[in-house]
Amino acid sequence: MRTRGEPWRGPHLWKSPGGAWRGLCLWTLLLLALGCWQARGMATPDQVKPIIAMEQLLWVSGSVIGEVNTYRIPLITATPRGTLLAFAEARKHSASDIGAKFIALRRSQDKGATWSPTSFIVDDGSLVDGLNLGAVVVDSEKDIVFLVYSLCAHYKQCSTASTMIIRSRDDGLTWSVPRNLSEEVGTTMFAPGPGYGIQKRYEPKKGRLIVCGHGTISRDGILCLLSDDHGSNWRYGRQPLHGIPYGGVKLPSDFNPDECQPYELPDGSVVINARNQNFYHCSCRIVVRSSDACDTLPLENVTFDETLVDPAVAAGALVKSGLVFFSNPAHEKQRVNMTLRWSFTNGSSWWKEPLQIWGGASGYSSMTALDGPAPEDSHSLFVIYEKGRVFSTESISVAKISINGQL
Ligand SMILES: *[C@@H]1O[C@H](CO)[C@@H](O)[C@H](O)[C@H]1NC(C)=O
Ligand SMILES: *[C@@H]1O[C@H](CO)[C@@H](O)[C@H](O)[C@H]1NC(C)=O
Ligand SMILES: *[C@@H]1O[C@H](CO)[C@@H](O)[C@H](O)[C@H]1NC(C)=O
Ligand SMILES: *[C@@H]1O[C@H](CO)[C@@H](O)[C@H](O)[C@H]1NC(C)=O
Repeated sequence: MRTRGEPWRGPHLWKSPGGAWRGLCLWTLLLLALGCWQARGMATPDQVKPIIAMEQLLWVSGSVIGEVNTYRIPLITATPRGTLLAFAEARKHSASDIGAKFIALRRSQDKGATWSPTSFIVDDGSLVDGLNLGAVVVDSEKDIVFLVYSLCAHYKQCSTASTMIIRSRDDGLTWSVPRNLSEEVGTTMFAPGPGYGIQKRYEPKKGRLIVCGHGTISRDGILCLLSDDHGSNWRYGRQPLHGIPYGGVKLPSDFNPDECQPYELPDGSVVINARNQNFYHCSCRIVVRSSDACDTLPLENVTFDETLVDPAVAAGALVKSGLVFFSNPAHEKQRVNMTLRWSFTNGSSWWKEPLQIWGGASGYSSMTALDGPAPEDSHSLFVIYEKGRVFSTESISVAKISINGQL
């Protein structure tokens, strides 16, 4: 019989019939406990006390890194091999959305502790209306990372918008030449993300890659690019969520869903959390839910989340360990107060005490989490965001969040 102080020796439990029975009970209890933890995630409020475990600046604007004027539009993802990839637009000559840019990348192979030097993986040369990010999407089944971006999104001295995609099969080290998706899906303007695309983990359409974004005047609103063959072929979903008036100039308070982030709930539905560009109904987020893996984004499934106060910005949303997380500058008008919220109820309500990540200037944000076997991975997530003292465009920072509050 095992007593206090005696070292744990598994085989002892199997010596006598009584011992075997006790052993079985112990193992059953252990498995049940593990099962509960995994199935329900960190479901109880007392286990969820997010803190910032670590934070560092990845890029600083002001022509100090690679002579780049401004870094903006941060994206982050975790690869199946456990590497973190952070991307940003490197705006060569000005802070403007329009203009020539690189895509900057840094990689971390030690859970965000250290990052590779910046590499510029795409260079649009000297285009007047250059590239815009974008969405990163990982095919976990095939270990491929895709990055989708647009060209000529503002029709500034160019007449055709293009949707471009690059691919890495070696964990983000090297990238394919850009492929012009517009040759297949058409040249209507599509601004992906900014954020990440998803791969469906549950039915319906398990394995589907989904990249959501928004259009402009002629095809404004939210639509998603879909691939059911690991990124070989892409098409748009059948029914987008149109802005109103569709095809017309929007006035303040018109319905104008814009930059957006999808995430999948455990019932297989996809929720898209979107920027409410013209503040229809509230200074808060538009939420649309699709039950057919983003083939249709029905107007009847649009809601407004009044808890998620928002100044019209690209925000982050992520499902992790059974919780839904949301990041944005929580302010009705200004891009300040980067805040992390979490939901124990699939995003239908938010915990009353959020975590303030940065009280000052803060803009676009995106999130990811590692999915490895290390306990740390189930308790951590990463928020990448635009951060500054006066302007949110001063730098791009990544904060590692410990979900259970332990370092
Ligand atoms: C992409 O393809 C479209 C459609 O063929 C074309 O109009 C556009 O110029 C192409 N873009 C680039 C950058 O090659
Ligand atoms: C709208 O959402 C509900 C609840 O998720 C779902 O049952 C319904 O099928 C959705 N409607 C459409 C048209 O997708
Ligand atoms: C920051 O956000 C929190 C959470 O919504 C809110 O309580 C607080 O008043 C905000 N602070 C500012 C300065 O907006
Ligand atoms: C969240 O959704 C899952 C799948 O539909 C469901 O089993 C679970 O009960 C939901 N959680 C809450 C708190 O509503």
